[in-house]
Amino acid sequence: MAVLITNIGELVTNDPERPGLLGIVEHAALVVDGSSVAWVGPASDAPAADERVDAAGRAVLPGFVDSHSHLVFAGDRAAEFAARMAGTPYAAGGIRTTVAATRAASDEQLTAHVARHVGEMRRQGTTTVEIKSGYGLTVLDEARSLAVARQFTEETTFLGAHVVPEEYADDPAAYVDLVTGPMLDAAAPHARWVDAFCETGAFDADQARAVLTAGAAQGLKGRLHANQLGPGPGVRLAAELGLVAVDHCTYLDDADVAALRDSGTIATLLPGVEFSTRQPYPDARRLLDAGVRVAIASDCNPGSSYTSSVPLCIALAVREMGMTPAEAVHAATYAGAQALARDDVGVLAPGKRADLVLLEAPTHVHLAYRPGVPLVAGTWVGGRPVTAV
Ligand code: NIG
Ligand code: FE
Repeated sequence: MAVLITNIGELVTNDPERPGLLGIVEHAALVVDGSSVAWVGPASDAPAADERVDAAGRAVLPGFVDSHSHLVFAGDRAAEFAARMAGTPYAAGGIRTTVAATRAASDEQLTAHVARHVGEMRRQGTTTVEIKSGYGLTVLDEARSLAVARQFTEETTFLGAHVVPEEYADDPAAYVDLVTGPMLDAAAPHARWVDAFCETGAFDADQARAVLTAGAAQGLKGRLHANQLGPGPGVRLAAELGLVAVDHCTYLDDADVAALRDSGTIATLLPGVEFSTRQPYPDARRLLDAGVRVAIASDCNPGSSYTSSVPLCIALAVREMGMTPAEAVHAATYAGAQALARDDVGVLAPGKRADLVLLEAPTHVHLAYRPGVPLVAGTWVGGRPVTAV
């Protein structure tokens, strides 16, 4: 069945064949046929369809592609957040609090928890979400975390190398052997990606390299958490290995920026983290001006960024990271899709998946101009309207 969405004041297509970064069509229409986009163009030229939706002059965008989240967890860390706002700095070790809660939760509890957060995301315009494991840190708990995540997305990431769990504190090398051996074997059938937290207090470059290499041998694509809490070797490792994306990128030197530019590895910036940890925001302007590809994602997790809102991240990126509204929207849609090696989402053009957002606003600029306002009036995933999961 074909559905015509017409009277769109501003249609962001991200189609590289159209002019401008966002490939905007004004006074536009779009036809959805089944799960795909069938036609895009001026409303005055639109073909007939079985059903008609009147956008009443509002903006339509590709759905947000949130390429970095940690939704499989139990409990929260509100007390840690409150302590941080009273001056205690963020440290990677807090992850172990969530590991204990996650291990104690049933599969049903974890599934219900992910469903609630994915529902929040949908209502805020996210149509593709990547979900990591990393709060289980045993063979069984990592495998079941990924099996839960797989019920919600194809974009699942094995993050056994999140931190060294307490029971291996005296022998981190043995934990890396577990991650690269039996844990990876159990996780790989449920995962598309492999990731590691390359940071002081988590894993060093050699350990991260071992994890990524072992994952690649099992067919998993690599991504990395790096340079979040301070300068370090992670970004250059990601570039050297030709990873699709390296995430955080808060503390970069000139060599890091050059490595990202030369490798084409996407820098995924996560402004919800700096909001929640009171650290300096990453310098998106510097990266864009150097020719680095930049994506934005929520990093939704209970420790460093407990927001599921890509619109909030867009607003922060514009206000705090030197991005224009158009650059931030592009980073949360087109570049988010690139960061997941996906070419079927993040673009509205014939043949692409009909994942789209209707804003209660005339243009994409309002996402940053009206921060904190629930501007998403409707979300379609694969051509179907969704409000919750
Ligand atoms: O992406 N950086 C590592 N992992 C998460 C934080 C996890 C936590 O604090 O629970 C992140 O920021
Ligand atoms: Fe993360």
